[in-house]
Amino acid sequence: MQPTTIALIGAGQRGHVYTEYALLHPDKLKVVAVAEADPARRAAFQHLHAIDNANAYADWSDLLAAPKLAEAVLICLQDRMHFEPTNIALEAGYHVLLEKPMSTDPAECLLMGRKAAQTERHFDICHVLRYSPFFAKLKELLDGGAVGRLMSIQHNENVAHWHQAHSYVRGNWRRSDESSPMILAKSCHDLDILLWLAGADCVRISSFGSLSHFRSENAPEGAPTHCLHGCPVQDECLYYAPRTYLTDDTSWPTAVISNDMSYEAREEALRNGPYGRCVYRCDNDVVDHQVVNLEFANEVTAAFTMSAFTNENHRTLKLMGTLGEIRGAMDKNEIELIRFGGETTLIALDDTGGHVGHGGGDLRLIEGFVDSLRNSEAAENRTSAKTSVQSHLMAFAAEHARVTHQVVEMDVYTEQLMAAGRDVR
Ligand SMILES: NC(=O)c1ccc[n+]([C@@H]2O[C@H](COP(=O)([O-])OP(=O)(O)OC[C@H]3O[C@@H](n4cnc5c(N)ncnc54)[C@H](O)[C@@H]3O)[C@@H](O)[C@H]2O)c1
Repeated sequence: MQPTTIALIGAGQRGHVYTEYALLHPDKLKVVAVAEADPARRAAFQHLHAIDNANAYADWSDLLAAPKLAEAVLICLQDRMHFEPTNIALEAGYHVLLEKPMSTDPAECLLMGRKAAQTERHFDICHVLRYSPFFAKLKELLDGGAVGRLMSIQHNENVAHWHQAHSYVRGNWRRSDESSPMILAKSCHDLDILLWLAGADCVRISSFGSLSHFRSENAPEGAPTHCLHGCPVQDECLYYAPRTYLTDDTSWPTAVISNDMSYEAREEALRNGPYGRCVYRCDNDVVDHQVVNLEFANEVTAAFTMSAFTNENHRTLKLMGTLGEIRGAMDKNEIELIRFGGETTLIALDDTGGHVGHGGGDLRLIEGFVDSLRNSEAAENRTSAKTSVQSHLMAFAAEHARVTHQVVEMDVYTEQLMAAGRDVR
């Protein structure tokens, strides 16, 4: 069988993560075309995947205007650029694998859900956590009745202070008007997981949270706009940029600050670029802590906490059922199953072999997508766009609840969106 062919739109950080699968499994997947606006990134990607100039484009619209180049497209553009290329690609007959969020506009998500229901193409969203062995095991335990009937979920997303500073204070997702609110940008995965684990529609949501720490009034006295402009507290500040970005380790997050990883180029990027800014003097507005309470149609309740103020950078959960509880720590890849009045079992998941990223979810997701194209009937599809619409709407509803201080009824919220939206019925 020939490898499945794919075209990449957006050869940034995520585009590289998924297309690594083609380098590891050339018998299964081949990247045959790329659209990337940055010439250096485009050339580097062409080199990596041996793509000739005729199949390399500076803009996604030119790639999609060309005669169909591949069986599928992988869309890894920034948050606000997902809707149009997805629609055009589906119309052009491509299967589509789209990075989350589907869109930063709830009405567009509804439209995409309708498109997903109508199209005969595969249209999946990169909700990578559903493919991680950790969450897959939790789902398997719940479905197998390991703790009886599920009643409550406690889910913590421990963002880690340095990750918040990198992505949500200095980086691409710092402003909701340029990308999306934190609950969509960072936590749409978590709401999607809650929906999956709860196993029923979400009926109502409340939420609280704010941007409390990474604000100008918390800037140390005399702190300049950039750390390298002579910051007086550089020795004690947790967020002194050179300590993060000028080490020998040039993998993520350092990899995104410059195309050139030489020390000099990175230092220059910090001197005047976004990642060298004082974290208290940026133009960020997304929250640094937020809680969301959710109720599902089967009476399962969930409490979700996202916080920047953690040392660990991973998810921790407790799933409480009528016969026992499950505790899980994603980074340890460990699950504890406790049966009331019975034994406690420690389940160690050691099989992330070669599937690094989001607990092994990243490469498993692209593998699942490729398998579903090669053998539709056998493949299990966990992250179809049809399924993903609801979890995206939960994120928008949570943000609405946080901003308006209201409890949001999901059916009323969805009805209102449909009534106000652009022909989403
Ligand atoms: N699934 C996940 O867990 C996960 C994790 C991180 C990010 N994301 C999402 O993935 C998406 C991409 O994130 P990223 O970190 O790779 O971003 P990035 O900025 O590294 O990559 C986007 C690329 O698109 C290119 N581009 C911009 N305009 C273009 C155009 N008109 N035509 C072609 N290329 C163009 C940019 O030059 C850039 O290289 C975002 O929506 C982000 O929210 C998902």
